[in-house]
Amino acid sequence: MHESLTASDPERTIEFEFVRATENAALNAVHWLGRGEKEKADDAACDAINGVFDLVDICGEVVIGEGIKDNAPGLFIGDRLGTWRPGSPAFDVAVDPIDGTTNLANGSPNAISVMAAGQQLPDGGRAMQNLPAFYSMKLAYGPEVVKAVNSGLEPITLDDPMETILHRIAEALGKRVQEVVVVMLNRPRHASFISEVRRAGAALRLITDGDITAAVAPSLHDSGIDLYYGIGGSPEGVLTAAALKALGGEMLLRMAPRDQEELQELSKELSEAELRRVFRASDLVRGESAMFCATGVSDSYLLPGVKLTGNKAITYSILMRGRSRTVRYIHAEHDLGHKTIHLRSVHADRKL
Ligand code: FBP
Repeated sequence: MHESLTASDPERTIEFEFVRATENAALNAVHWLGRGEKEKADDAACDAINGVFDLVDICGEVVIGEGIKDNAPGLFIGDRLGTWRPGSPAFDVAVDPIDGTTNLANGSPNAISVMAAGQQLPDGGRAMQNLPAFYSMKLAYGPEVVKAVNSGLEPITLDDPMETILHRIAEALGKRVQEVVVVMLNRPRHASFISEVRRAGAALRLITDGDITAAVAPSLHDSGIDLYYGIGGSPEGVLTAAALKALGGEMLLRMAPRDQEELQELSKELSEAELRRVFRASDLVRGESAMFCATGVSDSYLLPGVKLTGNKAITYSILMRGRSRTVRYIHAEHDLGHKTIHLRSVHADRKL
């Protein structure tokens, strides 16, 4: 689509503020790398994101955040971002200040700061679907598989046996199953999936935490990953969907209640059909306006982490929009002699 500036795509002018927010979150959280303090790292990221938006004229509402608000600091569903000056553009916002907090606390790879945003739909509907289940079953693949399915390859479903899924992915990519690389969270709940991938002969990369980068990876040219599979956080699924809409990849997602108790809770508000529904990326992130951005804290498939060189901090971010499908990789060098970031906690700019 022609990339022109119209009143209907205010995200085109605001998108860089989202990058500034994830950059500042990464810069403010990186000091906690390996210090074993995941809450403090998360708070530092939230403080910086709130601080950036305190200076930006948008009416932002968090629709996917860190659960329901309690007294802990954070970015929760219903929180407001931006100045809310009358007439400012309105956005629904999804945010995970740090995906991979445990990785960050352990000084391990795969921690990012990540946000997505979209305009509310003309009918007043949310740009992003909040899923009430803590976990969802997710399967994500890249644009080449989407193309193959559109050209007649039998579609992949969440109910297919692993062997079938791997054969279809292999066929779509013109590979042998042994060359297909699957990424999965290393969790006891995945024991049978892990055995099935191994039995089929595909390669498997097990990760400790951080499944947004893992599920986006099959849609990146050079990640070496062909399929993301497994049960992970539902909010992470929606953030992933925003990226996949811009990258042309696809995700299948179905809520996966943890136990009978959660199932009973969910059944109070959802019908059986709603609980069993398989969402695709465009069901989770509706409309064309969605943007996605992330900054690496530590290295991942998606992005290198923050590098501190003494007088500079270097950040790597990705910014993309569903409307134009432009994907920008932003390498920023921050001069620590001059760089300040605005923090909500002190309502002021602070040196790093
Ligand atoms: P946080 O860093 O936000 O806590 O999430 C880490 C994460 O690994 C997600 O990427 C993933 O979706 C989820 O936790 C998996 O949950 P669990 O650790 O309970 O298996």
